[in-house]
Amino acid sequence: ASTRYEAEAAPATCAGTIDSNHTGFSGTGFCNADNAIGAAAQFTVNASAAGTATLGIRFANGTTTVRPADVVVNGSRVAGVSFEGTGAWTTWVTKTLTLSVNSGSNTIRFSPTAADGLANIDYLEV
Ligand code: GCU
Ligand code: CA
Repeated sequence: ASTRYEAEAAPATCAGTIDSNHTGFSGTGFCNADNAIGAAAQFTVNASAAGTATLGIRFANGTTTVRPADVVVNGSRVAGVSFEGTGAWTTWVTKTLTLSVNSGSNTIRFSPTAADGLANIDYLEV
């Protein structure tokens, strides 16, 4: 079974605003991070064991420009991710990532590397 971590729910953080103007999101809103390099969405997730974890990050990008980001686990960059255009801000898609995690609490940060910033981020599932 997976656990869903909503971007709008503490201890998650969003370097922008929690919005709810584009339907189709889970929970009560989504992270609309500022359109800037480094304007991140961060999640704190619990893993029952150390090792490889499969994660699903749900996002929407209503533009036709890919929004790239670093994936930073417990403070270290471990991967990159591309948040492609999804066709509309109301079209949410889930991208699967495979990452190494520690047993217990982990921070997983999506930090954009281009000036457009992140896609809108709905949740992370682990
Ligand atoms: C629009 C959209 C936002 C989105 C933003 C962006 O303003 O309504 O939800 O975050 O574009 O380009 O990042
Ligand atoms: Ca935005």
